[in-house]
Amino acid sequence: MKKSNKINTTSSVVNLKNSLKKSLKAVDEEIIYRLDKSIPLINDIGQHLINASGKRIRPLLTLAMAAHLNDISRKPIILAAAVEFIHTATLLHDDVVDESNLRRGKKTANIIWGNEFSVLAGDFLFAQSFELMVETESLEALSSLATASCKITQGEFQQMQIANKPDTSIKDYFDVIGKKTAELFGASCESGIIVAGGNKNLQKAAYDYGYNLGLAFQVIDDLMDFSQDSNKMGKNLGDDFKLGKTTLPIILVWEKSNKKEKQFWDRTLKELNQNSSDLNTALEIFNKYNIFVECKKIAAEFIIKSIKSLEDFSNSKFKDYLIGLANESIDRSK
Ligand code: IPE
Ligand code: IPE
Ligand code: MG
Ligand code: MG
Ligand code: MG
Repeated sequence: MKKSNKINTTSSVVNLKNSLKKSLKAVDEEIIYRLDKSIPLINDIGQHLINASGKRIRPLLTLAMAAHLNDISRKPIILAAAVEFIHTATLLHDDVVDESNLRRGKKTANIIWGNEFSVLAGDFLFAQSFELMVETESLEALSSLATASCKITQGEFQQMQIANKPDTSIKDYFDVIGKKTAELFGASCESGIIVAGGNKNLQKAAYDYGYNLGLAFQVIDDLMDFSQDSNKMGKNLGDDFKLGKTTLPIILVWEKSNKKEKQFWDRTLKELNQNSSDLNTALEIFNKYNIFVECKKIAAEFIIKSIKSLEDFSNSKFKDYLIGLANESIDRSK
């Protein structure tokens, strides 16, 4: 793109974060305060993860939705803290399930404190999120996030059930990522509109925006697992490959692979019999079939849907930022 065409060099996410700086700070303070009230080890585990470089995208969405309706009161802040607590709880549990050892650029809690403490600390964060949601005095917001919380666990379950099965259908994959990731994105947005007093139409629009953004977000995350940029994301390269996780690149490449390549996937993903050069071979096959380009195209389609969902939103600076945030998420490196 020619330089002169660039209207604004600052990204929408940065602009959004700047506009909501005070509220985001209050969210973090709320989280730290709640952790502080817990027993020391839970506090340590929670602080370890919270103080690392998480993007805070979900609480940002909650705050932005409420701010679109001019609500910058305490309720969206409490709700956004609940959202980040839910998300952090799922990360603690997910890293146990995925046997991951790097998260937000730091050793995972399961590596430092072990699986048992990680799972229990995750449970505490979940429970804490419900206390916060009750404090918002909105049964509807509570309902939205409680539903999402159930779905996340179902999605993580189903993800385990499709592992080591590269011949999984795309439909089953989207069912999994819809539940494990997109539902919380949807509820983070919807509940922000709910506490700010938005009507049902706006609630649905916000949910649809978040849900589709969440689908795109997980597709990109699955792609990034095979990219050298995964370190920038504070995670390890090839975590999904190592455990034979069935993600979109795998499903697409399996469909295209020839007999010899299928034997390679059988050995590495089904039998988990891997050697040190296998990840590179996998990358070569992905590139041969342009799989990453295809994944990005699919993610871009969800972004279009996501942005379209905001059509009925009145004009506001926050609406513009939300559109920008969705557009930027395709090329994110973090
Ligand atoms: C990680 O979410 C889990 C996925 C749904 C892919 P984020 O990428 O938002 O993680 P943090 O909060 O920034 O660490
Ligand atoms: C996890 O998906 C989504 C959650 C609901 C926690 P991933 O397993 O791909 O997330 P990362 O890559 O570990 O962050
Ligand atoms: Mg994981
Ligand atoms: Mg996982
Ligand atoms: Mg991942």
